[in-house]
Amino acid sequence: MDKYILNINGKKQTVSVDGDTPLLWVLRDELKLTGTKFGCGKGLCGACTIHINGVETRSCQTSIDFLDDEDQITTIEGLSIDASHPVQKAWVAHDVPQCGYCQSGQIMTASSFLSRNNKPNDDDIDTAMKMNICRCGTYPRIKKAIKSAAKEMKNG
Ligand code: FES
Ligand code: FES
Repeated sequence: MDKYILNINGKKQTVSVDGDTPLLWVLRDELKLTGTKFGCGKGLCGACTIHINGVETRSCQTSIDFLDDEDQITTIEGLSIDASHPVQKAWVAHDVPQCGYCQSGQIMTASSFLSRNNKPNDDDIDTAMKMNICRCGTYPRIKKAIKSAAKEMKNG
């Protein structure tokens, strides 16, 4: 085991883990940030998506060895205070979640994508979100929520 200093949600945290430990398990097991979910463990479902330096990243595929304390890691818990990010507000307004399991990952992907493109067309949204799977089929509501969050981000 080695010691690692990570910058998570704006706070430096020290963890002792093996270097090949996926960030997902450090977040969930070591730091109890359980908003980030385990789905496939193979980079295929998007349930574990977080941001590293603002870019959506699969935490199940990111070994701790590849990170240093300069990397800004953001989880769903750190996206905003009181769920006030435009994407989170749009998710509530459009009543997006069903079981909810995939939704942290959906929100983290959508928020990163919209930070780069706040005027997305349908194809842009489909491309950005296609690797985030929802077994409950909430895709139509996700798309509506992304469009309304985009409007707020453009005006804000
Ligand atoms: S759990 Fe990471 S992509 Fe599925
Ligand atoms: S809301 Fe159930 S898996 Fe997406």
